Amino acid sequence: MEVTQFRYLLLVLLLTCGLAPEVAAEVEESSDDPRAPRGPVWLTNVPAAMEFIAAVEVAVIGFFQDLEIPIVPAFHSMVQEFPDVSFGISNDSEVFSHYNITGNTISLFRLVDNEQLKLEGEELESIDATKLSHFISINNLRWVTEYNSMTGSGLFNSQIEIHLLLIIDKASPEYEKNMHRYQEAAKLFQKKVLFVLVDSGVMENQRAISYFRLKMSQLPALAIYRTVDDKWDTLPIKEVTLEQVQNFYDGFLEGKLL
Ligand SMILES: *[C@@H]1O[C@H](CO)[C@@H](O)[C@H](O)[C@H]1NC(C)=O
Ligand SMILES: *[C@@H]1O[C@H](CO)[C@@H](O)[C@H](O)[C@H]1NC(C)=O
Repeated sequence: MEVTQFRYLLLVLLLTCGLAPEVAAEVEESSDDPRAPRGPVWLTNVPAAMEFIAAVEVAVIGFFQDLEIPIVPAFHSMVQEFPDVSFGISNDSEVFSHYNITGNTISLFRLVDNEQLKLEGEELESIDATKLSHFISINNLRWVTEYNSMTGSGLFNSQIEIHLLLIIDKASPEYEKNMHRYQEAAKLFQKKVLFVLVDSGVMENQRAISYFRLKMSQLPALAIYRTVDDKWDTLPIKEVTLEQVQNFYDGFLEGKLL
């Protein structure tokens, strides 16, 4: 059925691309940039933890009462694998209680929808580096999240029901300017809309583009999608403007465009 197609598509992508994080990890490990952080930041009190989390789009904190548990070395290895994520570690009891942590927990905090996701209890005990990497890849949502098989499923796990997609070729000359404006617009829609970038130059994204019945000649375009009822609309554009994003969103909510 048409209605479930987009979700189904994401699931298929997710299942067929299961090896992606390991491949990515190898690439990262081969880089020897001396500025790359070497380990997670120690968070020894509540103000330090709050400041650390508030400063970034995505923070992953290991709350470890026991630093000898098997997941700790795997947690450390994530720092190299996700250069765009900030990693912290804490064993301070006040920090634990501030974040309502009762046992060894890995938490992902993100700004875009103000979520705190937790891996704890049995789930944490049975996790390995591959699964931890998968958890971070899926939930690594930003002001503007680039669509791929991993983030595609994370977008559907968010409480935010409306997704706005900018479908554009990242290699095109107009990309930089439009992306900058789109990023600025995203901050104004915090907790209302998840902003997504779909690179039309990537083969795997062709199915997502045709889901919205867009032809290559109509790009760049905006698409808006509501997860609860799979309603969507599209708007081919010349360039991104805040006014246009606002009008497209308002019109969609009013139901005028469908
Ligand atoms: C936290 O870890 C440090 C470094 O291993 C250790 O010295 C300290 O005793 C630990 N604190 C608690 C409350 O376990
Ligand atoms: C911890 O839990 C309490 C009660 O459920 C809640 O009010 C508070 O906001 C939580 N703290 C954090 C940092 O999530």
